[in-house]
Amino acid sequence: MSLAAWVLAAVLVTLLVRRWKSSSGALPPGPRPVPILGNVLDLQAKELWLVAEKWAKKFGDVAYLHVAGQGLVFATMDLLDKKGSIYGDKPTLVMAGELCGCDNMVAFTRYGDTSRRQRKLINQAFGVQVIPAYHPLIEAETLSFIRSLVADPSNYIAHTRRYAGGMTLSVVYGYEAAGNNDKFLNLGEECVDLLSNKIASGGGIVRVFFLDIFPSLKRLPTWAPGSGFLIKAAQWKAKMDEFVDRPYEFVKASLKSGTYVPSFCSMLLEDEKKCTPQFEFDLKQTANSMYSASMDTTITVFCHFLLAMVLHPEVLIKAQKEIDSVVGTDRLPTFSDRASLPFVDAVLSEVYRWGVPVPLSLPHRLMEDDVYRGMLIPKGSLIFGNVWAITRDETLFPNASAFLPERYLEKVEPALAKKRDPRSYVFGFGRRRCPGVNLVESSVWILITSVLATLDISKAKDSFGNPVEPKIDFNNSVFRMPDHFDCDIRPRSEQALKLLRQAEADRS
Ligand code: HEM
Repeated sequence: MSLAAWVLAAVLVTLLVRRWKSSSGALPPGPRPVPILGNVLDLQAKELWLVAEKWAKKFGDVAYLHVAGQGLVFATMDLLDKKGSIYGDKPTLVMAGELCGCDNMVAFTRYGDTSRRQRKLINQAFGVQVIPAYHPLIEAETLSFIRSLVADPSNYIAHTRRYAGGMTLSVVYGYEAAGNNDKFLNLGEECVDLLSNKIASGGGIVRVFFLDIFPSLKRLPTWAPGSGFLIKAAQWKAKMDEFVDRPYEFVKASLKSGTYVPSFCSMLLEDEKKCTPQFEFDLKQTANSMYSASMDTTITVFCHFLLAMVLHPEVLIKAQKEIDSVVGTDRLPTFSDRASLPFVDAVLSEVYRWGVPVPLSLPHRLMEDDVYRGMLIPKGSLIFGNVWAITRDETLFPNASAFLPERYLEKVEPALAKKRDPRSYVFGFGRRRCPGVNLVESSVWILITSVLATLDISKAKDSFGNPVEPKIDFNNSVFRMPDHFDCDIRPRSEQALKLLRQAEADRS
């Protein structure tokens, strides 16, 4: 039987089962589906969030689509926050989960005891009250990041990966990365790339959920035409298992030899009585999830900051002036300066809003039928936060496509301020909201503040010295991460270089 025949058979079985299970009621509006396959053709765009914004304009705050009966909801309102108990589940991802072994990654765990245990562990490491303990480590990593940028500016993506990955490796495993070419950083980079560009998003959203929509395809015999993905999945699973196991084995070995550096894992493993096989399994998976979730997200945010500064020199100058007036030029900024730097805070908020790091968030799964404004949202639907559409809503953000940090300096009613605060939506929703947010709030703030204090950022120049417009392209269907673009990054002044050298000397 050819692949097309297998697919057709799978579609028919899936449709029959879903029709049999489905309840009746008016579904939310959405683009018109084609018979049997539904909205497959509407979901092909590389930057699907741009299309989803059009649905929000045309159909309102909830748009409903389906692919062979599997409901997909794109929601711009607080559906996911308000009824967290029924919107907190995650889909069983056949490719990412069952076939590639990522089903115990925190972002993919079904809602229930395991996800609660995992999030409790993360809260022990990254709860808001714990973060100040990491400030010295974050400041040290930030300095090393800026030194790398000064030495080798064009490799800013690798330095940011080293920064985010290195910091999580230290906090979570007590492991100090040895430069950009470190074995665990390389493993992390390879696996996060595999996960976000092959396992969980290769070729757009329909490919992501292809096997979830047609789960019977996973039983294709390996001799069947079109079954190559099963062989690839086995190879990817081996790599992902290595990613979970190796850093954890490092902590265990260093605990045994007494050479460990205190970390999230070492702290929790010290109490041997707690170390049941289940506890160790949870710890290993949770540690790995924190490591993998920190890299592409931080890179995406930093790249948008860089791009905003390249395109808006007036914002860079204004932020630098604010830092100079508060911090002066005789020292580097520290966390204690934050309250006195409102414009820098506004720049960070605008970077989150304008850049939109995860524009359709990560899908949740609805656990039971829900009725919203008289419309039925069927149980089992995948719910995507239409984050991009929220950030481009002109009623909330006049001139929404422009980068205007000043919009966050306006005094508005608290309820409106909350609605406009990008932290209400760029970190996801409800019971699955990003648990790394407290760490990010500190680490990304000091990162951009230190960069503004010490470096100048501008357009790259061609061989005649003329500024070159950055070429921006997005090729990842989960993270809105710009591909590498050229820009010019250099120390602001001899004094800034002196401060960096001085800080390095103080730490060694
Ligand atoms: C700027 C950086 C970051 C952004 C924009 C970001 C954004 C997100 C988003 C949108 C989600 C999906 C939430 C949902 O399903 O509703 C998420 C989940 C998650 N993030 Fe982050 N994140 C960032 C950094 C981090 C860091 C540094 C860590 C770890 C230390 C982390 C750990 C996680 C975990 C474990 C999940 C899965 C949560 C769950 O499903 O229960 N993230 N993040």
